[in-house]
Amino acid sequence: MRLRGRKGIRENLEQQQELVVLNPQVYKGRWAEVFGNDRPIHIELGMGKGQFISGMSVKYPDVNFIGMDMYDELIRRASEKVRAKWDGQGAKEPETVRLALGNIEMIEEFFAPGEVERIYLNFSDPWPKKKHWRRRLTHPRFLDKYRQLLNENGEIHFKTDSRVLFEFSLNAFAAVGLQMNDISLSLHEGRINEAHVMTEYESKFVGQGMPIYRCEVMVGEAAVRRYQERKMEMFE
Ligand SMILES: C[S@@+](CC[C@H](N)C(=O)[O-])C[C@H]1O[C@@H](n2cnc3c(N)ncnc32)[C@H](O)[C@@H]1O
Repeated sequence: MRLRGRKGIRENLEQQQELVVLNPQVYKGRWAEVFGNDRPIHIELGMGKGQFISGMSVKYPDVNFIGMDMYDELIRRASEKVRAKWDGQGAKEPETVRLALGNIEMIEEFFAPGEVERIYLNFSDPWPKKKHWRRRLTHPRFLDKYRQLLNENGEIHFKTDSRVLFEFSLNAFAAVGLQMNDISLSLHEGRINEAHVMTEYESKFVGQGMPIYRCEVMVGEAAVRRYQERKMEMFE
């Protein structure tokens, strides 16, 4: 039964080639061709069921979005969400979004150096046991990989409900010499703005009254320069 179910999901994904990418390594260095334009590429790593990527893709039509996850079933559910969102906007095909099946451990095989402008890490698995810390998506070994594929405007936007993961991540960003901006220990208390799109996990945790931790990390040279120019503004 389970096998038949999985086969059915894979067939469903294979029939959605305009939206779903099952072999992202084939497109390394060629994502502009996939989208048919040169707009900046923003990726969400560990997208889950696709609430964030679908919302972002209709809100920011000048950006190409790629949501990545390693489970077929999540890609399928995200594809339904993206199509529903785009249908709701009266758009024919979700042209500026792709859903890619892949393990983030191999991210350098999916994107060429400088091909990505922004990485979103939303509610990444916290991996509480010390022996699993290397799997955390903000571990320095991942930050090294992200640095390679981000371009001069490159930034990482990170949010989580896990105080422990947030603490670890701030230390990891600092340890590899990355500048942080707009750090929030309680994102939904007052400072939230209209541009904010919530993820599934975020909606759930906010509904339970839990604090959400967030920060932006400047990676590319131009992003760092812009940050340096405006960093004192919030203290004025
Ligand atoms: C806790 S969920 C968060 C989902 C979504 N970002 C949200 O905020 O609602 C973490 C997601 O990351 C995915 N994930 C974890 N490790 C991954 C990896 N190495 N490669 C690809 N996806 C991964 C999981 O399958 C899961 O969908």
